[in-house]
Amino acid sequence: MDPRPVTVFAHRGASGYRPEHTIEAYRLAIEMGADVIEPDLVSTRDGVLVARHENEISGTTDVADHPELADRRTTKVVDGVSVTGWFTEDLTLAELRTLHTRERLPSVRPGNTLYDGLYPVPTFDEILDLARIEAVRRGRVIAVAPETKHPSHFASLGLDLTPPLLASLERVGWTGADAPVAVQSFESGNLRELRRLVDVPLVQLTSASAAYARMLTPAGLREVSTYATWLGPEKSQVLPRDAANGIGAPSSLVADAHAAGLKVVVYTVRAEPQFLPSNVDVHGELAALVAAGVDGVFADQPDLAIVSVERARTEDRRLTLRARRPRDLRVG
Ligand code: G3P
Ligand code: CA
Repeated sequence: MDPRPVTVFAHRGASGYRPEHTIEAYRLAIEMGADVIEPDLVSTRDGVLVARHENEISGTTDVADHPELADRRTTKVVDGVSVTGWFTEDLTLAELRTLHTRERLPSVRPGNTLYDGLYPVPTFDEILDLARIEAVRRGRVIAVAPETKHPSHFASLGLDLTPPLLASLERVGWTGADAPVAVQSFESGNLRELRRLVDVPLVQLTSASAAYARMLTPAGLREVSTYATWLGPEKSQVLPRDAANGIGAPSSLVADAHAAGLKVVVYTVRAEPQFLPSNVDVHGELAALVAAGVDGVFADQPDLAIVSVERARTEDRRLTLRARRPRDLRVG
């Protein structure tokens, strides 16, 4: 089977169908055919990397229902934002394992609440092992794209995410440039450090905020290409929304990134209407991203992304065949 023309990253697993960042969400994404599964990583008090989008876990676990952990509720400033709740860095892995996961968006994804209370918070090592076992079982590559969350915050607590990340990658022998892994971060300091320590592909995430404006200039992108393989912009940076929240012509970002030698993976395609542009459905959005030249998409519904990407491949073949026909049908 040819590699897909656009790589499908299952965003937090198949998170449109199962509570995000659970082994079951990742397993379903693999069953659906995702090329890559994505865990966001935070640290426990004893330095174990676990998969959560935030280090504050009251929105995605039943921690508030555990009276024995009531005294851990606190308020702290994380990356400049005041947050109140329970934090992974205040719980040991053993304590975290007494909790059960919940759907983050119950009003958007009520079907996923059927799985509330069933699954534990997985460790990064367990996710790596799932990918390795399923890759052997299915005879295909299943890559993992961990994102370090709040690396500066954790480093300030003496819980630097880089050493345990490297230890986990070394444990499975995924340290080379061809390892099925791509480490992502919105911060560049930890990516530059990783570049010095390991050869795996890196993803520089960006957002539409002004903080990334200089990074997205041609000179900034060339600089990013000295340590990263991929640029990971917000999808609106590639397909800007108009006043009516519709999409139209793409920005120059994909071409600019390609000119700097970077591949582009955009986040995040979600099928529910509130996340979509006003003028297309999810397949329309995916088709527009593929047409804009992206190399990868993060998707909460990886099955839908695969359908659209494969449809684009079929269209390409059809157009290629049509273009070839006059030469192929030479007469005389
Ligand atoms: O890592 C890609 C995308 O997931 C970045 O945003 O907030 O969903 O982790 P977030
Ligand atoms: Ca992420």
